[in-house]
Amino acid sequence: MAHSSSPAPFTVPSPARLAGRIRVPGDKSISHRSLMLSALAVGESRVEGLLEGEDVLATAAAMRAMGATIERGDDAIWRIHGVGVGGLLQPRQALEMGNSGTSTRLLMGLVASHPITATFTGDASLSSRPMARVTVPLAQMGASIEASPGTKLPLMVRGACPAVPIEYELPVASAQVKSAVLLAALNTPGITRVIEPVPTRDHSERMLAGFGAQLTVEQGPRGRVISLTGEAELKPQSIVVPGDPSSAAFWMVGASIVPGSDVLIENVGLNPTRAGLLTALRMMGADITELDARVVGGEPVADLRVRHATLAGIVVPHDLAPSMIDEYPALFVAAAFAEGATVARGAEELRVKESDRIAAMRAALSANGVATDEHEDGLTVYGSGGEKIAGGGTVATKLDHRIAMSMTVAGLHARDAVTIDDVAPVATSYPAFYQQLAQLSEDGA
Ligand code: S3P
Repeated sequence: MAHSSSPAPFTVPSPARLAGRIRVPGDKSISHRSLMLSALAVGESRVEGLLEGEDVLATAAAMRAMGATIERGDDAIWRIHGVGVGGLLQPRQALEMGNSGTSTRLLMGLVASHPITATFTGDASLSSRPMARVTVPLAQMGASIEASPGTKLPLMVRGACPAVPIEYELPVASAQVKSAVLLAALNTPGITRVIEPVPTRDHSERMLAGFGAQLTVEQGPRGRVISLTGEAELKPQSIVVPGDPSSAAFWMVGASIVPGSDVLIENVGLNPTRAGLLTALRMMGADITELDARVVGGEPVADLRVRHATLAGIVVPHDLAPSMIDEYPALFVAAAFAEGATVARGAEELRVKESDRIAAMRAALSANGVATDEHEDGLTVYGSGGEKIAGGGTVATKLDHRIAMSMTVAGLHARDAVTIDDVAPVATSYPAFYQQLAQLSEDGA
């Protein structure tokens, strides 16, 4: 979307400390799903706390293009009139997905079992990401797909109607692939099964059940088995989207590394399939307290009080990877300030995110005086023991919002200013990030 046009460089200021309270924006994964499922329910759904970032707005535009009515009220509540499962309309133009892999892969699933054809396009980052992981199961369900070389965008999905139910064991730990198949299953007569050897975020399962889909989750010998019976009928819901732990991550790390910091992050979603960074930071010695634990929209939520702490390097357990997959760039920054080395491996999926996050973070950290060893499946980061890092370098963001925000946080405790080449991509997931940084810096002054 808009951000790819003009780069916006940013020089990171050096605050005395971070202090105060902030509320992180709505969870991106849950926001996408709330729009998609509401658009398939019959009647009016309401969504409160929706993330109004470019990625989610791309999903909203696509669902409108396929017939749903989606409006934002002055009260910031989104009201969605769905078309019913099976009722998606032929979009008149290509669906422009911007930077959003989640929009693309989940919507490909929806289109795959409707009698429509849709073309998906995206920015340079999205157009370089692998789509075969989704096209393979969707083709098994009967969809026909024509993709650019390497199974990349632009690509066209011609849905099958009726599609055929499949049993699919995920070859890669991916909530997007799982969700694409489950969303295709909604309009597919019969039982579609997804087997998940390694558990990934379970927002789709929770929300599909909430909308009244016939869905069961069992533990089988090969992993979690999710079975969905189609054709489904979804009932409209009122959804409250909890705050995004992936956005809270930047303040969890920022407050941990800048001496004297004390920040209260309100409304952080702590679904166990998303809370791996909290576990890893605590293993490193971070001072993070959960306050007012509660349930919001069927998801566990708490406020997090984070105070500066002396961090120690760790070997990050491999099994944390799926529950912190988007938080590795932030973790690498925490590691850059820890005592000793932090070894993070078993995270090869980082190579195919909005950028190659292993290569991008290695380059960004070494440009700013942090030593690393790059592995095919991760990074070893040698920390400063809490001292300022050298800084003075320019970070190549590579159209990746999380590289921009993570390295902004690293720059908060650097001897020379860190420059980010382009912070425009931050608008995909966290439009208020820099305002909130200014507020926490001011409150800490
Ligand atoms: C997401 C799943 C993850 C994650 C992405 C959002 C989702 O991707 O990295 O930011 O909402 O399902 P994968 O499915 O590729 O692991």
